Amino acid sequence: MFFPEPILAIETSCDETAAAVIRGRKVLSNVVASQLDLHAKWGGVVPEAAARAHVEAILPVIQEALLPLSGARPTAIAATCQPGLVGSLSVGMTAAKALASAWQVPLLGVNHLEGHIMALCAEELGEIPPLPLLVLVVSGGHTELVLVQEWGRYSLIGQTLDDAAGEAFDKAARLMGLGTPGGRAVQEAALTGDPKRYQLPRGLKKDPLNFSFSGLKTAVLRLVEKEGPDLSISDACASLQAVIVRTLTDKAEAALEEIPCRSFGLAGGVSANVALRKSFEAAARLRGIPFYCPSFDLCTDNAAMIGLAASFRLAQGCRSDWSVDVAANGRLESLSEFYAR
Ligand code: KG4
Ligand code: ZN
Repeated sequence: MFFPEPILAIETSCDETAAAVIRGRKVLSNVVASQLDLHAKWGGVVPEAAARAHVEAILPVIQEALLPLSGARPTAIAATCQPGLVGSLSVGMTAAKALASAWQVPLLGVNHLEGHIMALCAEELGEIPPLPLLVLVVSGGHTELVLVQEWGRYSLIGQTLDDAAGEAFDKAARLMGLGTPGGRAVQEAALTGDPKRYQLPRGLKKDPLNFSFSGLKTAVLRLVEKEGPDLSISDACASLQAVIVRTLTDKAEAALEEIPCRSFGLAGGVSANVALRKSFEAAARLRGIPFYCPSFDLCTDNAAMIGLAASFRLAQGCRSDWSVDVAANGRLESLSEFYAR
């Protein structure tokens, strides 16, 4: 099910310049150069600045990732081609095309979300998750409940109607004057806080499988304005984290009630949240099914996950030609058609 030869994978969909080498399901290297400091002064990712920073970082990052091959060439090259910032994606894809052409090896465009899901197949996590798998992909741009009945074929069970959960963490963190990206800052501040201190709304209570987080951002804004200097940042962060974790867990559990699954998973940047991991693990334990979540360095954006998705697709016989393009959007449910083209 996985490609037995070494693959060089490149990920530049947003603000991390990343490269990795994968063989089968094994991660041989995983290098990430973050642009966090660059965008911090603007309070968010500036697309043009991100693309230029990728241009600067891409070759040193690739060179470092190739070190375990001791001068040997990879047998294939993969790069994220969708979804993401088009200028950022173009840098990684152009580098991948140039190297694949120079080394005369196959090229593969990879969907970023499939990468997050395939991180659950990393060798370090043991056996690959038994199917059907229900996985919540939860990141800065996505909150999607996905059913995997067969590897490579995905059904969307529920999704956010507005902001992603990671966006809710980031926007609330900004309102409270915490750093970017906000999720980790909120998690740290929440450690000493009281999660019951402030009442924050749970979005879309009546719709069990879809999510809405934009009301949460407004509620945090009102709270910050109302409390002023009296606001306890740690209590606000604990309350915010608790409401997001509860909402994500409840909706995922509602899906598990409807669809009998043999495994349960969490993927994407927000899956680095320890409270969320614990809550999902408990839900899986309650149902007697195994829980899968990537190691911390494979949760937030990285190229190892892109290599794992590429390893799966290359083993299936998928290849991209030189005309493969980058795209701002790219749905998991359309991937079969994408690779059939
Ligand atoms: O997957 P990712 O690295 O990039 C996207 O594809 O969007 O996810 C980034 C998101 C950000 O919103 C960030 O705040 C969130 O993941 N995040 C966390 C944590 N670490 C990263 N959210 C909550 N708790 C964390 N520990
Ligand atoms: Zn991501």
